[in-house]
Amino acid sequence: MAEAKKLFIKTYGCQMNVYDSERMAEAMGGEGYVQTDKPDDADMILLNTCHIREKAAEKIYSELGRYRGFKEANPDLKIGVAGCVAQAEGAEIMHRQPMVDLVVGPQTYHRLPDLMAKVDKGEKALDTDFPEEDKFEALKSRPKAQRGPTAFLTVQEGCDKFCAFCVVPYTRGAEVSRPVDRILTEARDLVERGVREITLLGQNVNAYHGAGPNGDWTLAQLIWALNDVDGLERIRFTTSHPNDMQDDLIEAHRTCDKLMPYLHLPVQSGSDHILKRMNRSHTAESYIRVIERIRAARPDLLLSGDFIVGFPEESDADFEATMDLVREVRYGQAYSFKYSTRPGTPAAERALVDPGVANERLQRLQGLLSEQQYEIQNSMVGREVSVLFEKTGRIQGQMIGKSEYLHAVHAPVENVVRGDIRKVRITHSEKNSLGGVLTEG
Ligand code: 5AD
Ligand code: SF4
Repeated sequence: MAEAKKLFIKTYGCQMNVYDSERMAEAMGGEGYVQTDKPDDADMILLNTCHIREKAAEKIYSELGRYRGFKEANPDLKIGVAGCVAQAEGAEIMHRQPMVDLVVGPQTYHRLPDLMAKVDKGEKALDTDFPEEDKFEALKSRPKAQRGPTAFLTVQEGCDKFCAFCVVPYTRGAEVSRPVDRILTEARDLVERGVREITLLGQNVNAYHGAGPNGDWTLAQLIWALNDVDGLERIRFTTSHPNDMQDDLIEAHRTCDKLMPYLHLPVQSGSDHILKRMNRSHTAESYIRVIERIRAARPDLLLSGDFIVGFPEESDADFEATMDLVREVRYGQAYSFKYSTRPGTPAAERALVDPGVANERLQRLQGLLSEQQYEIQNSMVGREVSVLFEKTGRIQGQMIGKSEYLHAVHAPVENVVRGDIRKVRITHSEKNSLGGVLTEG
C-alpha cells in the first residue's frame, strides 16, 4: 500500500471555518491524505482563510511567503488557499503567489477531489463558484472517525442582511438553509461517533428556514427535533441576529431541556444613529426588549455580544450610548473590535473616526466588558454547574470541560472520562476559567 500523504490545514476565523476544515480533511482523506500538525513535513498545505479582519488578504500573502522554503525543499509540495479570502481574491492569489496550486471558495470544497486530480497532473485548479448542488451531501460517506464530545454542525450559511461594514454577504453568498432530514442524519451520525454536544452554526442561524416534512422549519423546531436524539445531551447555536429572535426560539429557552442557557447576540452599537448607518435594521431599544423577553424565559441565561467602535460618524455621544447599553444588558462574554474598512462594502466609502479616539473608545469598552465578565464569573462561585468534560488539565488528575454557560471549568476528577457530564461546585474564578470540585461520584 502506498504511504499516506500528509495534509496540513491552517484554519483562520470563525467556527464555520473550523467545521469546513473538518469536512475538507474528510474529503482529502478519501484521496489518501492524513492530517499532520507540522507544515514542514506536509505533502499538501491548505490555508482555510477568513476575510472578516483587517488586511486579511495581505496576511495570507505573507503567510504564503513563509512556505516558499518548504516548496523549494520539496517541489512536490502542493499549496492551496480555501475559504473567504480565496472567494474574494480568486485568481489574483495565483498571480501574486505563483507557487499556489489550488484556490477553492467556501461553496465548492466538495469538489476538492476533482480539483486535486488537476493539481496532481501539475495544473492549477481554481473554483470560486456558487454552485447549485449541495456540498454537504456531496461530502457524505467519507470514513467515519471517532469524534470528541463536542462538534459543530452547519445548518445555515450566508447572509442577506448586508450590514454596511461586513464582507460575509459577498464571500459566503446569499442565505441558504440545509434541509431538516440531512441535519438530523448528520447529528445522529455525530452522536454515534461520540459527540454529546452540538453547536448549530450559521452566519444568521436564527433565520434558519430549512425544508422539513411539512414545509419549512424554524430553528426552534429543529432544536426540538434534536432534543429527541438519544445520546445527544446539549444543543447550542450561533450566530444570531436580533431581528430573527422569534417567539418559538425564545420559548425553547424556557422549555427545551437540552438547549443550553447561553446566547451570542451581537448588537454592534448602542446608538440608533450608528445602527441605522450600519444598516442593522434594529434599534438599541428593540434589542433590549428582545433581551428582556429571553431573560424572562431563561433568567440565568449568559449573554454574549459583538461590538464595533469607531464606525464612521460615531460621535462621543454615540459611543456613550454603546456604554449605556452594555451597562443595561450585562454581558458574560463579548468580542469587541475597532472598525476597519473592508473594500467593497458600503461603509468603505465613508470618512474614518480619528484612530486615537477609536483606540481610546475600544479600551474603555473592553474595560467595561471585562469587568462584567469577571463579575459574572465571580457570581458563579458557590454554585453547582454541570460540566461536559473534554480533556485532561495541566495538573495531574485534573480535567477541563464546559459548563452550561460555556465557562471553561477545571476540577480534580476520578473515574471521569472525556464526554462525561458531572455536577461541579465552583470554588474559585480565574482569568479565563473557573475551578471547582465534583459533587457526586
Ligand atoms: N470592522 C470591525 N469589525 C467587524 N466585524 C465585522 N466586520 C467588521 C469590520 N469591518 C465584527 C462584527 C461581527 C464580528 C464577527 O466581526 O462585530 O459581528
Ligand atoms: Fe455580516 Fe452578521 Fe450583518 Fe450578516 S448580519 S451582514 S453576517 S454582520
